[in-house]
Amino acid sequence: MADIRNIVILTGAGISAESGIDTFRDAGGLWERHRVEDVATPEGFVRDPELVLNFYDMRRGALAKVEPNAAHEALARLDRQWPGELLIVTQNVDDLHERAGAKRVLHMHGELKSALCTSCETRSRWDGPMRDRPACPACDAPSLRPDVVWFGEMPYEMDRIYAALREADLFVSIGTSGAVYPAAGFVRDARELGVRTLELNLERSEGSHWFDESRQGLAGELVPQWVEEILL
Ligand code: OAD
Repeated sequence: MADIRNIVILTGAGISAESGIDTFRDAGGLWERHRVEDVATPEGFVRDPELVLNFYDMRRGALAKVEPNAAHEALARLDRQWPGELLIVTQNVDDLHERAGAKRVLHMHGELKSALCTSCETRSRWDGPMRDRPACPACDAPSLRPDVVWFGEMPYEMDRIYAALREADLFVSIGTSGAVYPAAGFVRDARELGVRTLELNLERSEGSHWFDESRQGLAGELVPQWVEEILL
């Protein structure tokens, strides 16, 4: 691995599964129990704000009951010890990368613990519920929504992600089904840029064939193993 200096890591719901957070598309996942159109689109929010605020209040509240797992811990260690550039791009809206101690983290789909004001567009740290329509800390309007990217909306910081991919020597995808774009397209973007690609996932994903190497297993086992290898 001597030729690898800059790394971009993409994480998805699979990295938090062993912490007890439901994934979206596995059996019993969130999208089996809730309709995407109802709880993860701007139109759903207009139609039934109460339902949507409750859904995210419940998920935000559940964060207090979970802990980072060995995969989050291993990436946090890599972040502390890796001398080159490193960017952990997560599709996850939980805070487990940060709670494990990782610093170089970018939440492309937003965060449960953040509120977005639909009046003044300020993003504020947010720990409590939103269903009671609290005032925006910046403009006082009762216009907060979850700061989570919904279908039909643009993910955060795409320019920064593509800039990091252009400088990368290695792209690693962990615990994601490769079903949602633009994140699902990063492996092909990386390939076109000549970046080496590695997948760590419970099973082969929709995009497995695009990776130079694909390893199957639990994130809590595969990620610490890979971090050991790369830090050697
Ligand atoms: P998915 O639920 O689509 O995929 C989770 C992946 O993790 C699957 O391929 C599983 O096989 C794998 N997996 C499950 N448990 C695992 C474990 N213990 N170790 C390793 N892998 C495991 O979740 P995402 O790919 O993250 O977007 O979904 C992407 C986006 O779709 C989410 O960010 C969300 C959702 O709709 C928005 O809400 C905008």
